[in-house]
Amino acid sequence: MDKFVIHGGNKLQGEVTISGAKNASLALMPATLLAHGKYALYNTPELNDVYTMMKLLNHLGVVPEFKNNLLKLNTENITSQDAPYEHVKKMRASVYVLGPLLARYGIAKVSLPGGCSWGPRPINLHLEGLKKMGAEIELSEGYIIAKSPRLTGAKISFDISSVGATGNILMASVLAKGETRIVNAAIEPEITNLAQFLLKMGARIEGIGTPDLFIEGVDTLNSADIETIPDRIEAGTILIAAALTKGKVKLININSNLLLSILNKLENSGCNLLYNNEFIELDGTNNNIKPINITTSVFPGFPTDMQAQWTAYMALADGMSTITDSIYLDRFKHVPELQRLGANITVNENCAFVKGVGKLMGAKVMSTDLRASASLVLAGLAAEGITEVLRVYHLDRGYQRIEEKLQYLGADIERVKGKEF
Ligand code: EPU
Repeated sequence: MDKFVIHGGNKLQGEVTISGAKNASLALMPATLLAHGKYALYNTPELNDVYTMMKLLNHLGVVPEFKNNLLKLNTENITSQDAPYEHVKKMRASVYVLGPLLARYGIAKVSLPGGCSWGPRPINLHLEGLKKMGAEIELSEGYIIAKSPRLTGAKISFDISSVGATGNILMASVLAKGETRIVNAAIEPEITNLAQFLLKMGARIEGIGTPDLFIEGVDTLNSADIETIPDRIEAGTILIAAALTKGKVKLININSNLLLSILNKLENSGCNLLYNNEFIELDGTNNNIKPINITTSVFPGFPTDMQAQWTAYMALADGMSTITDSIYLDRFKHVPELQRLGANITVNENCAFVKGVGKLMGAKVMSTDLRASASLVLAGLAAEGITEVLRVYHLDRGYQRIEEKLQYLGADIERVKGKEF
C-alpha cells in the first residue's frame, strides 16, 4: 500500500489534460457483452477500477488489450455468465454486467456487491426494473441469479434517480422484446455516453439526455467504437487544487458543460474562470475563498463525488459554510481526517458545518474511500508542512496517476511505495 508525501504550499500552475471518465468507462465496458465482436473504447482512463472491470470481463470470456488509453475488447468468445464475489467485492460497479448478460444470454449470476465504506448503497431499483421486464430473480448464497428466456419491454418508473439502475435497465432493454420506457432516468453525462454507444451498436433509443427514455428492443446488436467522455470529477478536483493554492491552471480535453455547477461555485468563491467546450482556465491568484454552501444533487446539480473535495476547500474559507449531501446521507468519512489537519468541521446528519480556519497544518492522514482521499490530498497541498496520505490505493481506483498531474502543475507530492502504509 503506497502513500503520498506532500510538502504543502506550492501554487499550482500550468496546463494539464483531463483523462476519460471512470464512471463512463465502467458502463461502456460491460455494454460490450451485448454483442459479438471487436470494440475500441478510446480515451479509457488507466485506473484500477477499469482494471477490475477488465478482469471481470476477462473472466466472462472477453479478451482485453489496453494500451495508451485505448481499450480494445473482443467479445467473440463469451464463456461464462457468472460474476463471482472475488471480482464484484472489489467494485460495486461490477453489478453493471447483470443487465447485459441477462439480456443476451437469458441468465446471469452476479455476486451481491456487499458493503461500502460509506452509506447503504442498495441495488433494489436494478432488480425491481429487471423483474418488471419479466426476469425471475432469486437471491441465494450471496448471489443474484436472474433468468429470463427473453426480457420484455416495460414501463419502469424510478422513485429515485439512479445512475447505476438507469445504466443496467438501459443495457437490458436494448435487446428486450418490445418497448421499454424509463421514467426518471438518470441524466448524468456518463449515462448519455453509454446511450450514444448503444446507438452506435444498433440500439433504438429516444430521449437521450432527458429523464424519459424510450427504447425499442432489437433482436441483435453489433460491435462499435466509442470515445469516452472526459472525467468531470477529475477536472473539478484539479480546479479545487488550484483554487486552494491560489494558483492558475488550464485544463484541456474537458467540456465545461459537464461541470457548470462546480464552475459556478468556484466563481462565487472568488476564482476567475474562462471556459468553453474544449478547455477551462482557473485563476485563483486573488482568491480570498469566500464561504459557499453546497447541496449535492443529481446532474446538472453539484455532484456528490465532489462533496469531500469542496469540504476541504471550505476548510480554508473566510467564514462559515454548510455542505449538504442529499445523495449519500453519510458520506463524511473525510471529516475526522480533515480535522487532523486542523479543519474546524462538525457533522450533523447529512450536513457538514465548516468554519474556515486561517491555515491547515500537515499531519498523517488515512484514506478511507476514493473521494475522501482526494479531499485529503487537496488539504495537504494547501497545508503548512508535510502531509502523509496513507492507503492511496483508494485514489488509484479512480484517478489516473493523479500525483503525476499534480507534480506537473508544480505540486510537491511524491508516491512512496511500501507495504506498511
Ligand atoms: N439507490 C437506491 N436503490 C438502488 C440504486 C440507488 O436506493 O437500487 C440510491 C442510492 O442509495 C443513492 C441514490 O440512489 O442514494 C443514487 O445512487 P446511484 O444509483 O445513482 O449511484 P451508483 O450508480 O451506485 C454512481 C457512481 C458513483 C456516484 C453515484 C451518484 C458509478 C460507477 N458510480 O453510483 O460514483 O457517487 O452514481 O452520482 O457510476 C465515485 O465515482 O466516487 C462514485 C461513488
